[in-house]
Order: sequence, then C-alpha cells, then structure tokens
Amino acid sequence: MKVLFVCLGNICRSPSAEGVFREMSTAITDSAGTAGWHVGKPPYGPMQEAAKRRGYDFSDLRARQFTAQDFDRFDLIIGMDASNLADIERLRPSGNETPVRCFTDYAPETGMQEVPDPYYTRDFDGALDLIEICSRGLQAEISD
Ligand code: 4NP
Repeated sequence: MKVLFVCLGNICRSPSAEGVFREMSTAITDSAGTAGWHVGKPPYGPMQEAAKRRGYDFSDLRARQFTAQDFDRFDLIIGMDASNLADIERLRPSGNETPVRCFTDYAPETGMQEVPDPYYTRDFDGALDLIEICSRGLQAEISD
C-alpha cells in the first residue's frame, strides 16, 4: 500500500501526517504540496517543535510539489481540506481511478471536515491531535 498525503505548502499538515502515520503503519508513505513555494525545505520549524514534544522526528522530510504522475505512483491520495482535493482532482489523468479522500474522512467522530492549517491558526498541537486521530482511523481501515 502506497499512501500520499497532500496539503498546500507541504511544510505543515501533510509532512505531519506522513511523519505521524509512518510510525503506525507498514505502508509506504510520502507527502507533497499542491503549491511549489517550499520545494526542498524541511517542515516548518514550529510544526517540527510541536511534533518533537510528542516524540516525532520530521527532520528528514523535504517538501515537493504534487504532480499528475503521483496518481500512478500511489494507491491512495489524501488531502487535508476541500481546496487540496479540488487542486488534486484538477491534475487527475483521464482514465485514472486512484481514490482521493479527505484525511478527516477517517475521523468521523471528530465532526471535522478538514484539517485546519496551523500555518495560519498557529494551533500546531490541535493539528497534531487531529492528525493522530485521522492516522489511527486510516490505519484501521487499510489494515482490514
Ligand atoms: P500547509 O501550510 O499547507 O499545511 O503546509 C502552509 C504552509 C505555508 C503556506 C501556506 C500553507 N504558505 O503560504 O507559505
């Protein structure tokens, strides 16, 4: 199983999803941003610090931009909000049927429709809390 997490900048939410989910799954994981602004950069400093306080190390991760080829390289593509999903779908090659889901689909009990962007909210711990819940839900679903 190959899972790709996607957000806007690939420095806050999707690298965090990758960094959390890889700790609980044998799936092959990666992350990407729909925008190319931060290509080559490690996850955002305050995001890494918040993750480190709960035992995660994101320091090996580097941002890259989502491309149409990712549809053929992954079994499942997971966006963080509706805008990510629309940007992802715009690049879908004709005939490709790779599932694209919102990460919060795996945490219906939270009532959340998206992972709020901590780059703007500054709530890095709240984002990690939700990402941990979504990750557990995803793991439960793909390990069936
Ligand atoms: P992310 O957050 O999509 O969770 O990585 C963002 C990070 C940076 C920017 C926007 C969103 N930015 O505008 O630089």
